Amino acid sequence: MTNILCIGAGYVGGSTMPVIASHCPEHRFVIVDINESRIAAWQSDQLPIYEPGLEEIVHQTRGKNLFFSTEINRHIAEADIIFVSVNTPTKTFGQGAGRAADLQFWEKTARQILENSTSSKIVVEKSTLPVRTAEAMERILNSNGNGLYFDVLSNPEFLAEGTAIRDMQNPNRVLIGGRQTESGRKAVEKLVELYAHWVPRDRIITTNLWSSELSKLVANAFLAQRISSINSISALCEKTEANISEVANAIGRDERIGHRFLQASVGFGGSCFKKDILNLVYLCEHYGLPEVARYWEQVVLMNEFQERRFAANMVASMFNTVAGKRIALFGAAFKANTSDTRESPALAVCRALLEEKAQIVMTDPYALENACQDLEDLESRITYEPDPYAAAKNAHAIAILTEWPQYAELDYERIYSSMVKPAFIFDGRNLLDHRKLFEIGFNVYPIGKPARTRLVNHGTETD
Ligand code: UDX
Ligand code: UDX
Repeated sequence: MTNILCIGAGYVGGSTMPVIASHCPEHRFVIVDINESRIAAWQSDQLPIYEPGLEEIVHQTRGKNLFFSTEINRHIAEADIIFVSVNTPTKTFGQGAGRAADLQFWEKTARQILENSTSSKIVVEKSTLPVRTAEAMERILNSNGNGLYFDVLSNPEFLAEGTAIRDMQNPNRVLIGGRQTESGRKAVEKLVELYAHWVPRDRIITTNLWSSELSKLVANAFLAQRISSINSISALCEKTEANISEVANAIGRDERIGHRFLQASVGFGGSCFKKDILNLVYLCEHYGLPEVARYWEQVVLMNEFQERRFAANMVASMFNTVAGKRIALFGAAFKANTSDTRESPALAVCRALLEEKAQIVMTDPYALENACQDLEDLESRITYEPDPYAAAKNAHAIAILTEWPQYAELDYERIYSSMVKPAFIFDGRNLLDHRKLFEIGFNVYPIGKPARTRLVNHGTETD
């Protein structure tokens, strides 16, 4: 039996470890966190994160070979392998503020591991980290002089929220980076063995430490770049009567381009894309590559432009003022099937409309609690309403900000009849049947497609 510890019971630790534990019943897994209420939630029936399939796996493993605890020091002492998935937010202060990763939790965790260890261990970076962080970790961990040795491995997480469990069960690849020393190779092999319980060997890629660390940043930068690319073209489509769905389909048929991740939207969100790209930008600057830094930074700037453009289009379409108008925001989560609101474009649009003095009603099936925390500073100015019908009642406009499939199934005739006229729908996810909505009576504004509006001076769609 191997004692496996994970420090950090957030989205990453909380969704990966139960899956590994379910495939490795002979090993003992403990997930620890400094946040007591989070651990209490993991021990309860109300898990702290919503992720399809997670509840079943936690029920299956919890109390058998998976345990949650706040006793970090004791479990460090017992562990053979320690995964670290504490958060690495963007620095808000000092050198690299707004770009570099804030590594204070990481360093604190490394010191805590060192202080509480009485045996040599493998330490696995699961958090996304700047390239060469492992080196700093090795230095701290191996500065003990007490004969203990720590192998540091990089094993970045590629799972996407909403499909995390499915991604973990059937990953495209597992990436493990380690030192090319005898001890490093042995440590890598140990981690490979763990994953090989259910992942075919040819999907487990082993590389040097730095390639592994960099690959995670680059994977996210490439994914985000595709969204910014299609979103930039959506702006052009709106000016030219080209249709972004037709363009995406036409280019995506080229196998070299492929059709996935070409869905134009109000913008990308999530805890990773922006943070990881800014991290990459900072790294490039640090290594004296300003042209490379500017190239990647543009992906983030384009995303901010798209969010701003969406809100500005709402105001412009509604006769240049939304002051005092009730506007229903459908969706707070940064994407469907998650309660996560980190960097959600819905929050950016909400803030922009509040600046215009709109009256905001926000609805979402799972994310309202998180949205409420994120927008705490504006609490009194936002109404949170889980029922979309109630949210739309007496509203001038609806903005679709998360692609929850249930929003496509609503009774829009009923919604239309309860709204102030002229009624507007701004579909930031191109989720709805725009022609049908137009026929009901809505003025419809998709992303990257001509608006369907009955108002003069905005062009009338007749097809
Ligand atoms: C985070 C980052 O967003 C991601 O980029 C990185 O790869 C891993 O960490 P996530 O799991 O989604 O991913 O973050 P979060 O939900 O914030 O969880 C981190 C957890 O670590 C929190 O529960 C926090 O309480 C805990 N933590 C943080 C510790 O236990 N100890 C610390 O010193 C700091
Ligand atoms: C991402 C990566 O996909 C994952 O591999 C990595 O480990 C963490 O970051 P995640 O943030 O969970 O995962 O979500 P993802 O599905 O990638 O979506 C990110 C954002 O892009 C969402 O806001 C989503 O709505 C948006 N998006 C995605 C688009 O706007 N258009 C698309 O075509 C795809």
